[in-house]
Order: sequence, then C-alpha cells, then structure tokens
Amino acid sequence: MRAPLRVDTQPLWDPAVIEAARRLLHEPKSLPAWLFYDAAGSALFERITELPEYYLTRTEEALLEAEAEDILARAFAGPDPGRYPRAWPERAPVIAELGAGTARKTERLLRAALRREPAPAYLPGDVSGSALRAAWERLAAGCPALRVAPVCGPHEALFAALARLPQRKLVLFIGSSIGNYEPDEAQALLRRLHEVLQPGDALLLGTDMCKPLEVLLPAYDDAAQVTAQFNLNMLARLNREAGARFDPGRFRHIALWNAAASRIEMHLESRCSQQVPVAALGIALRFREGERIHTENSHKYDAASVDRLLHGAGFRREHSWHDAKQWFGLHLARA
Ligand code: TRP
Repeated sequence: MRAPLRVDTQPLWDPAVIEAARRLLHEPKSLPAWLFYDAAGSALFERITELPEYYLTRTEEALLEAEAEDILARAFAGPDPGRYPRAWPERAPVIAELGAGTARKTERLLRAALRREPAPAYLPGDVSGSALRAAWERLAAGCPALRVAPVCGPHEALFAALARLPQRKLVLFIGSSIGNYEPDEAQALLRRLHEVLQPGDALLLGTDMCKPLEVLLPAYDDAAQVTAQFNLNMLARLNREAGARFDPGRFRHIALWNAAASRIEMHLESRCSQQVPVAALGIALRFREGERIHTENSHKYDAASVDRLLHGAGFRREHSWHDAKQWFGLHLARA
C-alpha cells in the first residue's frame, strides 16, 4: 500500500477576485468597480485624467489650486474643540483621503496646509498599492515636512485608522468617486464616515454636476480609446487572476446616459455569442451577442441631490465651490 500523497497547497485565486467573477453567473451580469484598479488599471486611469475629453480632473484640480486657502481656513475654522489640549505636534490637524490614488490633485491642498501648519499629517487611503506607493514617493521627495501614513485597503481600513485619531480631521472624498456608488451605498458609506468622525471634523466632497451630453459622453468614451482599454482591462485582469480566457477583442466598451438615474453607465458588450472558460469558477460563462456586463456608474449631481446625500448621512453642508461653468463642485460639510 502506498502512503497517502501529502502536499501543501495554497489558494490559487484571490477569494475576492473569485467573488467578483461570480457576479458573471447571474443576469444582468456585472463586475465590481474595485476590479479596475490593479497596477495596469491604475496606470490607465492616470492616462484618463489627462485626456482632453476628461474635464473632471483638470476642473477639480484648478478649483483646489484656486481655493486651497479658503478650503483649509473654513475646514479648520473656529476654536479647536480642545479634544487634545496638549502641545503640538499631537494637535496638528489630519488630512485623510478616501481613494487617494497617486494624490496628484491633493498635493495642491497639502502644499497650502504646509504653509499654515508646521507638521500636518496626511493619511491617503486606496485599494491600489502601486498608486499609493507613487503618492508616498512623490510627497516624501516634494513635501518632506508632511507626515504621510498611507493606508492600503478598502475604505473601511481608513475608517478604522481615523476612529483611533483624536486630532481635528478634514477628510477628502474628491474626484467624484462618490458618484461611482449606487445612491443608497453612497449614503451608507458617508454615514459610516460620519460615525468615525467627531463633531467639528469636516468632509470635502467632490461631485461632478449635470451638464450637456455632448460634454458628458465623450468624457467616458474618448477618441483615443483609453477609457475603452481601462474598461476592457477588467477582463484581462480576470484572465490573469482568475484563470479566465476572455478575448478582449470580442467585447466592446459602451458608455451611455441613464437619465432616470442621472448617471453615466459603462458596460462591456459581447460582440458575438460566445463561451468563456473561467478556471477559478470551474465552468464556462455563456454570452449572447449584444449581452452586456455592467462595470461602472458615474452619477451626476445638482445642488439638491448633493444636499440630500450629505444631510441623509448626518453632515451639514457649509460651503460649495464651483468652476465658472458649474461643471464640478467641491462641498465642505461638517460632521
Ligand atoms: N469618479 C470618476 C468618474 O466617475 C473617475 C472614474 C471612476 C472613472 N471610474 C471610472 C472614469 C471609469 C472613467 C471610467 O468620472
């Protein structure tokens, strides 16, 4: 009789990626947006932010640059609630950021913070380790007086870090990232944030505003096809990380306006009827010609929907800044 074969095995596929792929077993098929942001996806997203059609980043960055002093003065206005009545540096305020990415836009605000405070702390949070490392390296070189403590993980990881900090806080949630959540999820996320903040802490929320479709649609369907590549990278990632056999050439990038939900939707549409084996699921997925995978939403706001969102989560809106065309809004809200 042979001795039983003993081998040490490790899980071959990341359980979170398997969970994501499982969404393709149900109709309508969808994939979670966090799947965009592996190293390749984060690099493609950086290219999106520089596209001529993608007005969001450039508009928000100009706003942050022009209004940095005012934003900080208002965010940290009033008497320090005195929850940390000892000397600096423990009292130095904390600027935290949900989904900081490479923090290129935020650097405008951080430089202004350094002119006001001797040693502010910056806690960038993001699911992409490669983007956070880029942020950290650039800030360590360019802003040596800034104390940077990156938190790699989902928003909950940054919330856990914030809950332990007694300092006054300004939390940034910019880039209209809030718009990538369903309205009830967006509200729940901000409510969770509100729970870990203390009265007097502030939130700076960036939202993309409603505007003509001739401007909106090209921002999500650019001539150079970078957004298409970004969307299709989800399938390439499932090939790399879930043993899938997607041929990205057999899917097409779609961006459309859903008026009822006030959002741009991104889909991947199957160009033909096809079967795609996925090793991590142990089966082949079937696609009809024209069948779509829903990959992203980007909600567009007006003043009323911003207020509903903030107030529903327990925040009080104190001030908003807009560009001259009112394309983008930054909103300061108090916990
Ligand atoms: N939040 C930004 C937006 O909605 C950035 C973004 C998230 C994005 N997912 C995207 C941009 C997908 C293009 C495609 O615009």
